[in-house]
Amino acid sequence: MTETALGLPALGTGRLFASAGPGLAAHEAAYGPPRTGWTREALLAELEASGLAGRGGAGFPAWRKLSSLGARRAVVVANGAEGEPLSRKDAALLTGAPHLVLDGLLTAAEALNASQLFVYAPAASLAGVAAALAERRDGRRVSLVESPGTFVSGEASAVVSALETGVALPRDSAARLTTAGYRGLPTLVHNVETLAQLALVARYGADWFRTAGTDDDPGTRLVSVSGDVPAPHVAEVPGGTPLRDILLGAGADPGSLAAVLVGGFHGAWVPAKALGRRATAAGLADYGARPGAGVLVALAAGRCGLAAAAPIARYLADSSARQCGPCTFGLPAMAAVLERIAAGERSPWLAAEAERLAGLVTGRGACHHPDATAGFVRSTLTVFRQEVRAHLDGHCTGAEGWRP
Ligand SMILES: Cc1cc2nc3c(=O)[nH]c(=O)nc-3n(C[C@H](O)[C@H](O)[C@H](O)COP(=O)(O)O)c2cc1C
Ligand code: SF4
Repeated sequence: MTETALGLPALGTGRLFASAGPGLAAHEAAYGPPRTGWTREALLAELEASGLAGRGGAGFPAWRKLSSLGARRAVVVANGAEGEPLSRKDAALLTGAPHLVLDGLLTAAEALNASQLFVYAPAASLAGVAAALAERRDGRRVSLVESPGTFVSGEASAVVSALETGVALPRDSAARLTTAGYRGLPTLVHNVETLAQLALVARYGADWFRTAGTDDDPGTRLVSVSGDVPAPHVAEVPGGTPLRDILLGAGADPGSLAAVLVGGFHGAWVPAKALGRRATAAGLADYGARPGAGVLVALAAGRCGLAAAAPIARYLADSSARQCGPCTFGLPAMAAVLERIAAGERSPWLAAEAERLAGLVTGRGACHHPDATAGFVRSTLTVFRQEVRAHLDGHCTGAEGWRP
């Protein structure tokens, strides 16, 4: 996959980057002192009232996850692995606002009376966190662990495995990490943006948090916008912002686009006619899309959607941790069928074969990777239905041909 350089939010702007610099003095000048003395019940109540949902992909309510942990020697992990190739928001936070992430981590740890705390991220991001920890007195219990940067390295059970053994491979999802995670202890794994947002909820309260965003998507969220846009960048936007407005912010003319991939490689396509939809799970439900970790990839009109999708399916197949048969063999087979359609092979059964393989792998892995990959392939076959038909008839609707 080719990587795009994404512009980062200017320091001193928005909620998450309000600090003029990554240092502690600038952080405290921007946000004031953190509120301490959190009990589990008090933090639970504030999080529930805030409506904060996880920013790592699944969008699970933060209070629910916290409520499933007792206060028995819990472990709290800030997940900054950011295995998604087109996401830059977590690196932006860890380098630009490391103290906000640490405030969130330490607040959750205080509420859970946690004994061990981790920040797990690529080496380039950990340097800024180490510098931030050296500035604070409350960070002695925080350990830094390097993530390898592979696509599955940020899956929660792979995170725990990496912390325990140094090998970032997903484990059987039957065991809930909140019950038995790191070394058998109840473990809270949160995305680093979730923890930064949690720090804001803890400091200013749920009512303040809800002054941005909508009832069903309160607060702000970070989005990494790339693809066919003039200014690929990470932006902080209010929850519930329409896709069109996010694209305008990246300098794109929404009328010039064919579709947008929402939620990254594990996401789904939303066609141009629906760009007025709000970037929320409810707003995009018809397309099986949700904001996920906030990745938007624009596809220009005239580009072939199948040619764009096939390399992503191949990348996802290559990213299998090769532990479960259906994932190891099913994903490459599915990617190969999509590649054949994209390349213009005129075998009418190919579309049904891709659907069949998507059905075969779904629900058959230890982690969510095969399901999400099947979801991406299904979305491609649905949103680019006309392109599939055209390819199988021997021509491509993309004015620019078979461009990847
Ligand atoms: C294949 C795969 C890769 C994932 N990669 C990441 C990642 O890089 N960062 C992340 O925060 N969550 C990632 N997740 C989601 C995590 O499993 C987990 O849901 C998340 O860290 C929980 O944080 P949240 O509650 O703050 O969203 C991934 C999930 C899957 C299935
Ligand atoms: S489903 Fe795939 S990625 Fe997940 S654990 Fe099994 S082989 Fe690894």
